Order: sequence, then C-alpha cells, then structure tokens
Amino acid sequence: MTNWRGVILAATVAAAPCVVVPGYAGAQTLDYEAFKASVQPIFITKRDGYTRCVVCHAGANNGLRLERPGPNGFSEEQSKKNFETVSRLVVPGKPDESHLLLYPLVPQEGGSAYHSGGRQWPTKKDPNWQTIARWINGQK
Ligand code: HEC
Repeated sequence: MTNWRGVILAATVAAAPCVVVPGYAGAQTLDYEAFKASVQPIFITKRDGYTRCVVCHAGANNGLRLERPGPNGFSEEQSKKNFETVSRLVVPGKPDESHLLLYPLVPQEGGSAYHSGGRQWPTKKDPNWQTIARWINGQK
C-alpha cells in the first residue's frame, strides 16, 4: 500500500503552482478532441448533490482556472485554453498520479485531505472519474 495521503501532501507542498514533471508529457500525448468531447463537459454538467466545477473554477485563482462558458458552452478558443490548463494537472498514462483525479477524491480512496470544493469524486468507480482516467490513459 502506498501512503497516498503522504504523497499528496508532499506533492501539494512541492507543487504550487502545479507542474507536470518534464519528460512525462512527451511519453504519451493527451487527445484534444477526446478532452472536448468527454472530459470538458464534466466541468459544466450538474450532478445531484454536487456543485458544478465551473461555478468555482471559472476564472479561479488556483491551478484549475477554467474559462467562463457562454450559453452554448465553451467556444473553441476557450476549450483550447481549458485543455492546456487541465493538461498541466494530469500525468499522461498515470491517472493515479494525476492531481485532477486525486485532489477532489475522497481520502479513503487516496484523495486529498482537503478540497474547498468538497469530495467531488466519491469513489474511483465514479463514471466521471473513469472517463477522465480513460482520457489520461489515451483510451477512447
Ligand atoms: C465550491 C467550490 C468548488 C467546486 C464546486 C469545485 N472546486 Fe476544485 N477547488 C476549489 C478551490 C477554492 C480550490 C483551491 C484549493 C482549495 O482551497 O482546496 C480548488 C482546487 C482544485 C484543484 C487543485 C488545483 C490546484 O491549484 O492544484 C483541483 C484539481 C480541483 N479543484 C478540481 C475540481 C473539480 C474537478 C471539480 C468538479 C468535479 C471541482 N474542483 C469543484 C473550489 C471548488
């Protein structure tokens, strides 16, 4: 068992602002179209019992600074900016080391002890967690 909590705490201290270790990014590439089709909608879709990510993260002053969507969602240019931002919060091929999936995850599953936005991922089996993990793994 890895002590993820310790890892996360260490990572949080070391990684403000979050940076991806150079070298990893080239090993596996993140797909922009897949991001736009499957991952980005998660940030603006209302789920029962949760506040939408975009409510707090649009224009936010932290690592996940999303664009403000218009009535028809994100424009192409905004999607590209979001893609860049979100890409910095993940390690391609390694969902379990990706800040985007760990920070809002319940601590019992290896998530961070604290996220102002609450425990957005109740379990790794959460369909949204799984969708993002597939994108990080370069699967369709
Ligand atoms: C109620 C407001 C709120 C909501 C909703 C929210 N967050 Fe957050 N989030 C924050 C704040 C504030 C921070 C800054 C760090 C902190 O205070 O925990 C943060 C930090 C983060 C970080 C770390 C960014 C960094 O600087 O490293 C990630 C990743 C993240 N949130 C993901 C999400 C995701 C994904 C969702 C939706 C599924 C979400 N958050 C929903 C408020 C929110």
